[in-house]
Amino acid sequence: MAKNLSLLDNTQIEAYLTSNSLKIGVIGIGRIGLPTALCFANSGFETIGIDINAELVTMVNSGDYPLKDEPEFDEIFENVHSQKKLVATTDISKAVPKCDIILLSLPTPIDDKNIPDYTAFSHVGKSLNKLLSNGQIVIVESTVEPGFIENELLHIIEGSNHTLKSGIDFHLAVCPETANPGEIMKDFKKLPRLVGSIDEKISSIVSQIYTRVFGVELILMPDCKTANAVKLTTNVFRDVNIAFVNELAILFEKLGIDTYTVIEAAKRKYNFQPHFPGPGVGGPCLPVNSYQYINSSKKIDGDFLKIVRQARKINENMPNHVVNLLSSALSESDTPLNNSTIAILGVSYKPNIHDVQIAPSEKIIKILTEKNAKIKIFDPYFTSKVFGLTTEKSIYDALSESDAAILITGHKEFQNLDLKKCSQTMKNSILIDCTGQVRPLDAKENGFIFRGIGRGGL
Ligand SMILES: NC(=O)c1ccc[n+]([C@@H]2O[C@H](COP(=O)([O-])OP(=O)(O)OC[C@H]3O[C@@H](n4cnc5c(N)ncnc54)[C@H](O)[C@@H]3O)[C@@H](O)[C@H]2O)c1
Repeated sequence: MAKNLSLLDNTQIEAYLTSNSLKIGVIGIGRIGLPTALCFANSGFETIGIDINAELVTMVNSGDYPLKDEPEFDEIFENVHSQKKLVATTDISKAVPKCDIILLSLPTPIDDKNIPDYTAFSHVGKSLNKLLSNGQIVIVESTVEPGFIENELLHIIEGSNHTLKSGIDFHLAVCPETANPGEIMKDFKKLPRLVGSIDEKISSIVSQIYTRVFGVELILMPDCKTANAVKLTTNVFRDVNIAFVNELAILFEKLGIDTYTVIEAAKRKYNFQPHFPGPGVGGPCLPVNSYQYINSSKKIDGDFLKIVRQARKINENMPNHVVNLLSSALSESDTPLNNSTIAILGVSYKPNIHDVQIAPSEKIIKILTEKNAKIKIFDPYFTSKVFGLTTEKSIYDALSESDAAILITGHKEFQNLDLKKCSQTMKNSILIDCTGQVRPLDAKENGFIFRGIGRGGL
């Protein structure tokens, strides 16, 4: 039977931690859940990864590390796999009753109307209602709106007939994950963690456990909703500031000012935090988190978060701006967009990872396809297909016969491009840079008609 840690004192819990005799369940072993499960397993705890993705479960159980673009975890994976410290299953009903601590690292996307979609939580919450019993601690690592835990998840787990009672049959806590894809291990080692719970004693137990596993600073929050508000605030701060520089970038293109020169100088001022323009803001976090805050604000009378709504509009319009830059460059060389061939360099929503969730590249490709352009894609992280299109084997395969190239993602493989060779490979030497990686003068000296987001005063 699972242990009820809430009935123990610190010394007794410490004894369980020292002897590694706690069993951990992680529900959702994707980008965030798997690295988290690996850390618990690597600390010596028997860990069960629970996921509805049977293919992923098979990969984990057969020792095939699924997150190839997430450094440092491959070795840990091999280690815990050979020691059988981490096993995976699709069978939640067998796994949960064995676990003392259950972490939820479930997806929290938005739907096509930008409303948060908590389907995974709803399913898992209903299952937990049937499976929890002895005061197990459920820790939500996913990013959710402030109040979701207290006002929704708690009631789903308690059940409509109140068959379970929070604080007795189970305990709810949050530890919102703030790591960045591609750098999860680096972030796990250095970022403080936020801990909140429905009752204070549970926060202290969760802190004790996380300190043992991660060894970083724990910041105790007064409740779950405040912890979730901190997580959202850090990401929405970025979404809003990126919108600000995107607006400046478009203005500076008209004013003949180089945005990167401005930001480089501005950041010398101690209280300026640099953000950079780009083709839009993608990924499972920033855009989603802004809509989560917007959704929270809709539940309250009043006109809140106008700035966040506006930021979303600005960032979501950036793919159109990229296409405008392309159209202007094409008309300089008298090439119609219709029937032209456009090389897309990079599709991931951020550099150095294999991830196209809410990626601006998808919208850019959609607009160009609607305008009858032919698309060739090269992304070193997508070696066969993406968005249903076959990708090119090399950058030069993508550039050959192309009328223009759009550098969308600043992957490390696109740094120090041989611009001369690139321009000589193309049918028409047009380069649109969304990343700030290409210096306008270099592009021009190597024969390109060049446009870059925010690159006024070329
Ligand atoms: N990826 C990031 O950059 C990042 C960073 C910090 C926080 N987060 C947050 O962490 C959470 C998880 O994100 P992620 O990127 O790991 O998502 P993900 O899609 O990579 O992983 C989620 C996993 O949950 C599984 N799943 C879905 N429904 C399930 C169910 N009913 N039962 C069991 N498993 C189920 C999926 O199969 C998948 O493997 C989200 O709330 C996200 O906002 C993500």
